[in-house]
Amino acid sequence: MQTRAHVLVTALRLQQRLRPAILDQGLIPALRWLVDDAGRRSGMTVDFQCNTDTVNVDAPVAVAVYRTLQESMTNIMKHARTTKVEVSLVVAPHKLSLEIADNGRGIRPADREKPTSFGLRGMAERATRLGGWLEVSSLAQDQGQASGTVVFLSLPLQARLPVDALPAARHPAADARRNHGLTARP
Ligand SMILES: Nc1ncnc2c1ncn2[C@@H]1O[C@H](COP(=O)(O)OP(=O)(O)OP(=O)(O)O)[C@@H](O)[C@H]1O
Ligand SMILES: [Mg+2]
Repeated sequence: MQTRAHVLVTALRLQQRLRPAILDQGLIPALRWLVDDAGRRSGMTVDFQCNTDTVNVDAPVAVAVYRTLQESMTNIMKHARTTKVEVSLVVAPHKLSLEIADNGRGIRPADREKPTSFGLRGMAERATRLGGWLEVSSLAQDQGQASGTVVFLSLPLQARLPVDALPAARHPAADARRNHGLTARP
């Protein structure tokens, strides 16, 4: 028989799989709403940048992007103790990437192994299911060099986006991380 806590966690996980109604307004307006709402509720400055105003992606991709940002913002409000967050979405012809960077206290290696924590694992599993990947780069304060946390999601897209309409764009925090050798991803 399942315990009450088990049932609750299962219900929460099922809810996470559902498509949020706000996505009816389009992925980018939904992401803007999320960051504005998090900023309003927490008092943090949340900056959102995107290289396009509209994007047409399949529902599972839109849900994954939305849920990744939602879980990351929740984590930042719960754990990071920071005042500033930078979110950027870059849409390219064959892939989409989302980066959420905070300058908070960072994640210790042991934090990632907590047996009752599912947020980071869930985001990574969702990305893998869609043929993409998710990376969490972070150095914690007690590792001597607090750098905050960067969550980076990359998902493949169908090749039916208006390629010419998309200007080149970069993720500044990802570039900085790469320059400091903090990530091995291409
Ligand atoms: N942005 C962040 N800054 C600092 N610490 C973080 C951040 N994100 C996650 N953590 C640490 O990593 C741990 C694991 O995060 P995860 O999202 O998997 O679980 P959780 O938030 O504890 O619980 P839940 O299952 O409800 O998401 C957190 O408990 C916290 O210690
Ligand atoms: Mg969490």
